[in-house]
Amino acid sequence: MARARSSSGDRPMAQRIDGRAMARAMLDETAQAVEQLKTQGVTPALAVVLVGSDPASEVYVGRKVAQCARAGIRSLEHRLPAETGQDELLALIDRLNADPAVHGVLIQLPLPRGIDASLVLDRVAPGKDVDGFHPVNVGRLSSGTGGLVPCTPLGIMKLLDSLIDDYRGLDVVVIGKSNIVGKPVAMLLLEREATVTVTHIETRNLPDVARKADVIVAAAGAPHLVRGYWVKEGAVVIDVGITRVTDHDGQTRIVGDCATHELEHARAVTPVPGGVGPMTIACLLANTVKAARDSLHG
Ligand code: GUN
Repeated sequence: MARARSSSGDRPMAQRIDGRAMARAMLDETAQAVEQLKTQGVTPALAVVLVGSDPASEVYVGRKVAQCARAGIRSLEHRLPAETGQDELLALIDRLNADPAVHGVLIQLPLPRGIDASLVLDRVAPGKDVDGFHPVNVGRLSSGTGGLVPCTPLGIMKLLDSLIDDYRGLDVVVIGKSNIVGKPVAMLLLEREATVTVTHIETRNLPDVARKADVIVAAAGAPHLVRGYWVKEGAVVIDVGITRVTDHDGQTRIVGDCATHELEHARAVTPVPGGVGPMTIACLLANTVKAARDSLHG
């Protein structure tokens, strides 16, 4: 594939992977699938539960609800005060699980202190677990036997699939071992027969490990952790970081885990914002449609 070149000379420039455009295309496909399901008498519905008023969570929930509307998915918002007791939250999840008109249940994280997140996530019916966080879905992913897959890793794979046909034998380094991104994306890449190294805060010589990678997935939540000298010429770099920082002049902006301005020798990089983030929401809606479709078949 031809590489872009800088205007100042012959130095190749890394391609920016346009997550917004890819997410738009996915949303259009999802909207068509929703129309199709409606002809079969099913309107896909997503229940979004937000406990407390974490500002970032408010923004994410607002975006999810807005995109549902665009795709024709019914969304049901359940906004509960921060003081909500765990039992009350579990009772709401039980009601949503039992409601045949609800196909997806999403509990926005983080939950307030005092609520046991793992108990709450385990309560969501696996077939409605559009986040893919329930142990049944985690187990299915690690055994490669279907189920609902977490949205950010799914979005990362779609971005990578736009560049890579065959993962067999590729060296992939995942930075970060979270349950939401690092571990599940490693599972998806293993299924495609990549050689996957999962690294974390205790990994020794991380720059040296990263430099061997054909693909880097940076999901450490550490702004500009991945520097130019960590990245091999021609590597593909997926930046999952979204950290809000305040500049000297008091302006806030979102920065990723990669020093993108140092990565022009890479083959392709995802921008922040506009890379992985939009794909996560697009995959959430696709998971909701999958859950609705699966409910038709019992
Ligand atoms: N908070 C941050 N990321 C996520 C996510 O992927 N799902 C949910 N439910 N909450 C989050």
